[in-house]
Amino acid sequence: MPLKNANTFSSPAGFTTVNCRRLYMETYGCQMNVSDSEVVISIMKDNDVVHTPDINQADIILINTCSIRENAEQRIWGRLDVFRQIKKTKPDLIVGVIGCMAERLKEKLLEEEKLVDLVIGPDAYRELPVLLEEAGTGQRAINVLLSREETYADISPVRTGKNNVSAFVSIMRGCNNFCSYCVVPYTRGEERSRDPESIFREIGGLSAGGYREVTLLGQNVNSYGWGKNPGTTSTDFSDLLEKSAVEYPDLRIRFSTSHPRDISDKLLHTIARNPNICKHIHLPAQSGSSRILKLMNRGYSREEYLERIAAIRSIINDCAISTDIITGFCSETEEDHMQTLSLMEEAAYDFAYMFKYSERPGTDAAEKLRDDVPEEIKSKRLTGIIKLQGRLSARSKAADLGKTFRVLVEGRSKKSELELYGRSSQNKVVVFPDTGLKPGDYANIKVTRFTPATLIGLPV
Ligand code: SAH
Ligand code: SF4
Ligand code: F3S
Repeated sequence: MPLKNANTFSSPAGFTTVNCRRLYMETYGCQMNVSDSEVVISIMKDNDVVHTPDINQADIILINTCSIRENAEQRIWGRLDVFRQIKKTKPDLIVGVIGCMAERLKEKLLEEEKLVDLVIGPDAYRELPVLLEEAGTGQRAINVLLSREETYADISPVRTGKNNVSAFVSIMRGCNNFCSYCVVPYTRGEERSRDPESIFREIGGLSAGGYREVTLLGQNVNSYGWGKNPGTTSTDFSDLLEKSAVEYPDLRIRFSTSHPRDISDKLLHTIARNPNICKHIHLPAQSGSSRILKLMNRGYSREEYLERIAAIRSIINDCAISTDIITGFCSETEEDHMQTLSLMEEAAYDFAYMFKYSERPGTDAAEKLRDDVPEEIKSKRLTGIIKLQGRLSARSKAADLGKTFRVLVEGRSKKSELELYGRSSQNKVVVFPDTGLKPGDYANIKVTRFTPATLIGLPV
């Protein structure tokens, strides 16, 4: 699923005691970061640090950061300015930067930013309690070591989602793909998969706790693999998905992100066969031009990508497909841009996340290619892409008119007290009149109209 960059959530209420130190957290970046923050809160809780949703109550502020684009980092600097103001009135406050930006900037964060007491990379969260003690004695504490093994498999995340319906489960960490524009392999380290038994245990716990949906997370879930060595049982992503779906028929299973190069027919048949595996695949194309895809080191051509789209359409009935697009990558011409637009038309995406290329220091593109598409052109192309996707999304919703979807209720609609909202298997938001259902219930909803963001319907 889309990495909703620069997503923020604050700590939910629930834990307050008088003697413990209080932690306030903010999380930016992708779902992986949201999931990591839940691990961090769990580690802190085991060390008598309680979680508060109120920044003014905090003894410790941790900000879990994202480096994916420059504007993601800008936003973090903005928040650090706000924390600086708070620290002026509260000198004992500990401020920590964790996550991808901590990994990318390392000591620099401590040197340039006198405010920061603590810098911790994504593989060092177990060290938090020790580093916190160091920071408490006035030292500046840092651990940005990346690991080949760490998957936090044994840690039970403290769920911070808005409802008790849907939860994230990390199944792997890191990435080995080295797409030339991308900072993730540098901030998150080598790809490693988590022991399937620990994954099933976590899913089982969620199911027993009343959850109705889990999203299995990895940067490239299709390369999940456990027990590839001789003599051990091997589990690939398709096996993991099927076993989760069969063992927990009450749960809906989602997953993200799929890499177009590795999405196999075996996986598509597994999705088609299991009613509780959601019919939605996030398959980021990035560009529609084979020349640009090559420069991006994506490992597939336009034709190969479209062949996978055709395979999805032929194997899975009514499967939503979404994408990420980067516009204005190094040397992108008007012709390349047109190819992206035509690929989007051909793939007929249900939704898309669209970005202007942002050069990231240290990546292959930054070292070897020139970021030579002028900002105005990037903006103009992005506008064109967003407009086209608006039309494609509307077309996709129009095609749903009159159809009935099984919707998992998530909560009350933001716009009206009298309406509920939930999601279809295709991951489309559906709004409908409140008939007394609760979050976690299912409703069969017939679509009667739609807005740019949602389907609207009536219970049948
Ligand atoms: N692992 C996932 C996505 C990781 S980041 C995948 O491979 O699809 C989420 C999205 O951010 C990417 O799909 C890409 O579209 C975008 N992105 C990554 N690096 C970027 C950069 N330097 N500039 C602009 N967008 C970028
Ligand atoms: Fe980045 Fe590519 Fe890995 Fe996705 S697959 S995280 S875009 S390097
Ligand atoms: Fe995610 Fe941003 Fe890191 S997208 S992996 S938090 S750089």
